[in-house]
Amino acid sequence: MRITIKQQVLLAPATVLTLLVFLLIFMHYTYWNLSNKRREAKAVGSSFIALAEADMAARRLHLLLRGLQQTGMAAPEDMALVADLYERLLTAVDRIQPFGPLKDTGQIDRLRSLAEDLNPASSPDEQRIAERFAVFRAELSSLSNVTQIQLNKMRLLHEEDVTRLVERTTQVSIAVLALALVLGLFLSIYFSRRLLQRIQHLSRNAVTIADGSLVLPEAPDRIRDELDTLALSINRMTKRLIRVVGTEKLLEGAEEERRRIAMDLHDQSLSDLSSILRGLQGLQGLQGTSLTGELHEKTAHLTHELEHAISNLRDIMNNLHPQTLDILGLGAAIEAHLEQHCDSMELPEYHFYLDPRVEELQLDRTKQLTLYRIAIEAIQNVIKHASASRYEVSLEVREHNLILAVEDNGCGIIEKSNYQGRGLNNIRERARAISAEVVWKQSRFSSGTRFELTLHCT
Ligand SMILES: Nc1ncnc2c1ncn2[C@@H]1O[C@H](COP(=O)(O)OP(=O)(O)OP(=O)(O)O)[C@@H](O)[C@H]1O
Ligand SMILES: [Mg+2]
Repeated sequence: MRITIKQQVLLAPATVLTLLVFLLIFMHYTYWNLSNKRREAKAVGSSFIALAEADMAARRLHLLLRGLQQTGMAAPEDMALVADLYERLLTAVDRIQPFGPLKDTGQIDRLRSLAEDLNPASSPDEQRIAERFAVFRAELSSLSNVTQIQLNKMRLLHEEDVTRLVERTTQVSIAVLALALVLGLFLSIYFSRRLLQRIQHLSRNAVTIADGSLVLPEAPDRIRDELDTLALSINRMTKRLIRVVGTEKLLEGAEEERRRIAMDLHDQSLSDLSSILRGLQGLQGLQGTSLTGELHEKTAHLTHELEHAISNLRDIMNNLHPQTLDILGLGAAIEAHLEQHCDSMELPEYHFYLDPRVEELQLDRTKQLTLYRIAIEAIQNVIKHASASRYEVSLEVREHNLILAVEDNGCGIIEKSNYQGRGLNNIRERARAISAEVVWKQSRFSSGTRFELTLHCT
C-alpha cells in the first residue's frame, strides 16, 4: 500500500507530536498523583491542629468548671465562657478527619461521644467531671500521637515522592524526546528521499522530452498519489506531442509536395501550354492571307479556350501553393483569395479587416500556410452552407494572441446525420499542429456562426 504525499509529509511531525502528547499525559498523571498525596497530607495536618485546639479547649474548660464548683458561684459571664469553650471543643473535634490508619477504627467517633459527655449542662459532681476529662484527654492524646506519626511519615514520603517524580520525569522526558527526534528524523529523511527520487525521475523524463527526444515515459498502472497523477499527465502530454509532431511533419510534407507540384505545373505544363498559345496567336496573325474564314474562327475559339485553361491552371497552382503568401504575407494572401474568388454578385458580401500588428508577429512559413488554409476552408463553408448575405474575415492581435475570425449572418451550424465533410476536421487537425485553439459559436450580431482561431504568440 502506498501512502499519499500529504500523508508522507505529515507522518514525521505527526509521530513527534503524538509522542509529545504521551509525554504530557504522563507528566499530568504524575503531577495529579502527587497533588492527591499532598491534599491527604494537608488533611492530616489540619486534623492535628484540630486535636491540639480540642485539647486546649478541654483543659481550659476543666479548670473553669472545677473553679466554679469549688466556689459554688457562677456568674453569667462565667457561664457564657463555659458555653463558648465547650462550643470550641465540639467544633475542633468535628474538624478531625479520618485518615490512613484512623479510617475504620471508630476512634474519632468515640472521641466525639466522649466530647458530648463533657457537656457542662449535664452538671455532674466534680469527681465524675475529672474522670470524664481524663478519659477524653487520654483518647485525644492517643489520637494526637497517631496523627503526629502519620504526619511525619507523610512528610518523609512526600520528599521521596518529589525526588522520585523529578528523576522519573527527567528520564521519561529524555527518552521520549530522543525517540521523537530519532523517529522524526528517520521518517522525514526516508520519505523525502523517496519523494525526491520520484520527482527526479519525472524531471528527467520532462527534460528528455523538452530536449526533443520523444520517448514515451512509462505510465503508472494505478493512481495512488499526486506524483502518479503527474507521471500520467506527462505520459499523456508526450503521447499528444508525438501525435501533434507527427501531424505537423505530415502537413509539412504535404505542403512541400504541393509546392513541388505547383512548380512542376508552372515549369512544365504552363510553359507547354503557353508555347501552344503563342503558336495559335501566331496562326491568328496570318488573318486574311492563307487562312480561310472558318479556320480563323476555330483558331480564335481554341485561343480563347486555351487562355481559359491557362487561367484555371494558374488558379490550381495558386491553390496548391499560394505565391502571395511567400511574397506579401498572410493578410495579403487571404485578401487576394477573397478578391479573386469571392468578389461576385452571386456570393455573399464580404468585409476584410487586417490588424497592422499581425506583420510584427513574424509568423513562420508553416504557421502562415496553416492559417491560410484554415481561413480558406472557413470562408468556403460560409459560402457553401451559411446562406448568409454578409460575412467578415478578420486577423487581429489581442494580448500576444493572433485571432483569426470568420463571422457570418447566416443560418448557423445545423447538425446533419449524413455529414461526410472533412473541412471541420481538417481545420481542427491543422490548428492542433500549430498549437492553436479553434471554436465555432453563435455570431454576436445574428443567428449566424462565428469561427474563431486563437494562436498564442509569446
Ligand atoms: N459557417 C457555417 N454556417 C453554417 N453551417 C456550417 C458553417 N460551417 C460549417 N457548417 C456546417 O458544418 C458541416 C461540416 O462542414 P465541413 O467543412 O466539415 O464539411 P463540408 O463543407 O460539408 O465538406 P468539405 O469541407 O469536406 O468539402 C457542414 O456540412 C455544414 O452543415
Ligand atoms: Mg467545408
